[in-house]
Amino acid sequence: MDSIKHAVELARSAEQGARIVQPHSVGPQGNASDAIREIRLNSAHLEKNRIVAHGGISGQPGRYYDMLRTQVLQEMDKKGWQFLAVTSPTPGCGKTVTACNLAMSIARLPERSVLLVDLDLRKPTLATYLGFKPEHDIIDVLEGQDALASAVVEAAIGPTKMLVLPGSTTSHNSSEWMASQTMATLLERIKRDFRSRTVIFDLPPMLLGDDVISILPRMDAVLLIAAVGSTSVADIKECQKHLQRTPVVRVVVNKTAGAAEEGFYGYGYY
Ligand SMILES: Nc1ncnc2c1ncn2[C@@H]1O[C@H](COP(=O)(O)OP(=O)(O)OP(=O)(O)O)[C@@H](O)[C@H]1O
Ligand SMILES: [Mg+2]
Repeated sequence: MDSIKHAVELARSAEQGARIVQPHSVGPQGNASDAIREIRLNSAHLEKNRIVAHGGISGQPGRYYDMLRTQVLQEMDKKGWQFLAVTSPTPGCGKTVTACNLAMSIARLPERSVLLVDLDLRKPTLATYLGFKPEHDIIDVLEGQDALASAVVEAAIGPTKMLVLPGSTTSHNSSEWMASQTMATLLERIKRDFRSRTVIFDLPPMLLGDDVISILPRMDAVLLIAAVGSTSVADIKECQKHLQRTPVVRVVVNKTAGAAEEGFYGYGYY
């Protein structure tokens, strides 16, 4: 079923008070070159930020991301896609949490590697969620103050490693950066230098400005995160208008109590 239609139906049932089972309701809880700084992540910090797909936790929460991982990778492999944008209609739907979990879940596969990029230039939170303070960030790279390699870090937990291009400073020109030739060149560079990796971009919300609309043509596919209680049918329909040319690989309907017991992802094919 068309994933957007499916999400509309899910959101509509939520508005009508029906109970929707969701991906998870977790408790609060690559191969880099030598030049790349390595950071050891802390599992307690990750779990506090709902990042549970690092393989160190037994039980359900991480498994939902593994299911999502497999479905997303199957679709991306089939089409030869490398760049996956994670976005949502409105703020706070769980984009950053989902992007981190999906990246970790993919990174746990022995033959896969990931680069996770914070492209939410207005509100970069990836590094905070993962638990490190960047020395250099994507804005430094865009401004030409730093080479890409000095901003990328290798984040490791147990045997799992992934590369992260973090943000740290809030940009007041995010809209301009997203539409710039400098950004286009950086993305081309990432495509070339990290060609063997799946690249996951944590983006801002779609309906809060033109940042996402500007960058969508450079993405291969979109993972759309909706949240029960905060995403309306109208929001999803509005996003659909901007997603005519970029395929939606899945819609995840996030934040519904009971998901852990039911084990269900609100997703579908586009
Ligand atoms: N499945 C979930 N169940 C319960 N809470 C969740 C879930 N996913 C995320 N959250 C919580 O929702 C809040 C927002 O999550 P997150 O920062 O990932 O959203 P976001 O879409 O990236 O937000 P923003 O638009 O501000 O970037 C956080 O407090 C996070 O812990
Ligand atoms: Mg976010």
